[in-house]
Amino acid sequence: MSGTTTAGETHYPTIEKPPMHDVAVKPNMMDYDEMAQTYAWEKTEQELRLPRANGYNKATICIDDHPPEVMQRPALVWEATDGKKEVYTFNDLKRETSKAAHMFKNMGLQKGDRVFVFLERIPELYIIVFGALKAQALVGPLFAAFGPEAIKDRIQDCEARFVITSPSLKHRVDSILAECPSVEKVIIVDRKDEYTDYQPNEVSYFEQTRNVPDTFDVPYTDKDDYSIIHYTSGTTGKPKGAVHRHYAVISQAATAKYVLDLHPESDIYWCTADPGWVTGTSYGMFGPWAWGTTSVVYEGPFKADVWYRVIQDHKVTVWYTAPTAIRMLMKAGDDIVKNYDLSSLRHLLSVGEPLNPEAVVWGQKVLGHVFHDTWWQTETGAMHICNYPCMPVKPGSMGRPHPGVTVGILDEQYNPLPAGEEGHLALKPTAPSFFRTYWKKEEMYQSKIKNGWYITGDRASMDTDGYYWFFGRSDDVINTAGHLVGPFEVESALIEHPAVAEAGVIGKPDPERLEIVKAFVSLKNGYTPSDALKEDIRKFVRNLLAAHAYPREIEFIDSLPKTRSGKIMRRLLKARDLGLPEGDTSTLED
Ligand code: PRX
Repeated sequence: MSGTTTAGETHYPTIEKPPMHDVAVKPNMMDYDEMAQTYAWEKTEQELRLPRANGYNKATICIDDHPPEVMQRPALVWEATDGKKEVYTFNDLKRETSKAAHMFKNMGLQKGDRVFVFLERIPELYIIVFGALKAQALVGPLFAAFGPEAIKDRIQDCEARFVITSPSLKHRVDSILAECPSVEKVIIVDRKDEYTDYQPNEVSYFEQTRNVPDTFDVPYTDKDDYSIIHYTSGTTGKPKGAVHRHYAVISQAATAKYVLDLHPESDIYWCTADPGWVTGTSYGMFGPWAWGTTSVVYEGPFKADVWYRVIQDHKVTVWYTAPTAIRMLMKAGDDIVKNYDLSSLRHLLSVGEPLNPEAVVWGQKVLGHVFHDTWWQTETGAMHICNYPCMPVKPGSMGRPHPGVTVGILDEQYNPLPAGEEGHLALKPTAPSFFRTYWKKEEMYQSKIKNGWYITGDRASMDTDGYYWFFGRSDDVINTAGHLVGPFEVESALIEHPAVAEAGVIGKPDPERLEIVKAFVSLKNGYTPSDALKEDIRKFVRNLLAAHAYPREIEFIDSLPKTRSGKIMRRLLKARDLGLPEGDTSTLED
C-alpha cells in the first residue's frame, strides 16, 4: 500500500454524549443500534412521499414540491465574495429553475443529454443544475478552478452538448472548444452585464430565460434515470465519470436527516464544499433541500476570519466542512474565535480526508462541539460511515456504517476479516446513492466489484465496538486537502511542458493538506535544472489542470525508476522520498 496517513486506533478517550432526551434539539436518530437493526431505505422513501406523480425527479423532490409553508422559506442564502447577499425561497428557486428548464428544452435538449456547468459559486449554478435536471439532462458540475485540460478531458469523455459558463471563466472553455465538437452551445451567465461579444455558438442565459414561463411540468423521471456525473481520479488513466441516478436522493436525504441531523424548521445549514465536487451536490443541494432546509452558500475562498464571520452573520447551526479547513482554522489560532459570536452552532461535521483526533477535540474545546467525521466517496454518492449526534465519538475513527449500509474489511482474496484486522475497506453496492457506472467504462465499474463487494481503494479496520479506522489508500491516488488527484493526470500534464522528458508523481505527507503533489522530473537534453524552471513547470501544470492538482514540490532527477515494461515505479519514488524500505524491486529495469 502506498498509504496516506496512518490513523488506526488512537488513545484519545471516547467522547461520551449526554442523554439524548436532555439535549435542546433532539436528534433525528435517538439510538444508533436500534436504528441499525430496523432501518430500511423505504422508510425515507415513504417520508419523502415517493414515488410522486412524475416519479423521482430530484428537482421535484428538492425544489418544487414542498408543502406551501416550506415553499416560502429561504432555500438559498447566498453571500458573494464582496459581501453582497441574495436570498431565494423555494418558490423563487421553483420559478427560476423552471425558466432554466424551458431554456434547455427550447434549445432542443433531449433526455440524457450531457450539460456541463462551469461557474463560480453563484446562485445560477444551483438554478441551472436543477433546471437541467427538470429537463432530464445528465448534469456535470465543473470546479471553477479547473484549467482547460481538465475541462476538455471531461467534455470530450462525456460528449457534452451544452456548457454553461461566465465571462470570467469563458476563456478556459474557448481554448479547448475546437477539440470538443459535441458542444453545440455555450450559455453565458453574465451577472454584471459586461459581455457583449457573443459568437454564433454563444447565447446569454438571462436573455434565453427572460420571456419563458416560470412554471415547468417535469416529465416522468424513473428512479434509475441518470442525474449527476462527477469525475474522480484513479491510479491510471484520466479521471472517470461516476454516474448517479435520481434515486440517489433517498440516501442523500436519509443521511441529511440522521447524520447532518437537519431540522429544517429551525436549522441554518452551511456546506463549505464546492458543487464541482460530490459533497457540494449531495450535501450542498440534494440532501438538505429534500427536507426543505435553508442553506448558506458563500462564494469566496477559505479565510479563517471570513468563515467565522459567515457563521456568525447567518447564524449557522449545522456546519459540514473538511479536515484541511479545520486544520487551517486551528492554525489561525484560538484567539480570533473570540471575535465572533458562534453560539448558533450546534452540530459540526467533516469529510474528505482522515480527521485527526486533535481536530475533533479542538472543535469541542474552542467551538463547543466535537467534529463528527463522515466517510464516503464520489462513487458512493452519500455518506456511508459516520458519526452520529447520539453516538459516542472515538476521536480519529470514521464512525459506524449508516443504517441500511453494509461495510466489510476484506483480505486479499476479498473475504471478510474479523474485528481488529486491517484490510480492504469494502461495501455492499446496494445503497440508492451507489453509483450506476463509470461513463463509458462499464468494465472498470465491474472490476471494482469482488465477491459481491465494492472495493473502495481504502484500507481500514473495524474495532470490537464496530467503529471503523482509516489507514490509507491501497493505490497511488493522492488526497490533497480533500481532493483526489490521479498521478497519471499530473504526469500527463507535466510531459507536455517543453523541458520535461519524463515525470513521476507521488503524494508527499503534509501536516496541513494531508498530502501535497510532488513530481520527480527528468529534463530533456539542453535544459538545465533551476528554480526558475521549477516555477515555470509548476505554473504550467496549474494553468492546465487546476490549482489543487499542480506539484507544489518538484525534484529534478536524471532518470525515473521504471519496471522492465516501462511503468514508472511511483512506489519506489515514494519510499526513497520518505526514506522507507524500498520493498520488492525485482521488476525494476536494469
Ligand atoms: O480515501 C478516502 C478519502 O477520500 C476518498 C474519496 O474521495 P472523493 O471520491 O473525492 O470523495 C470525497 C468526498 C466524499 C476516500 O476513498 N476520504 C473521504 N472521507 C474520508 C476519507 N478518508 C478518511 N476519512 C474520511 N472521513
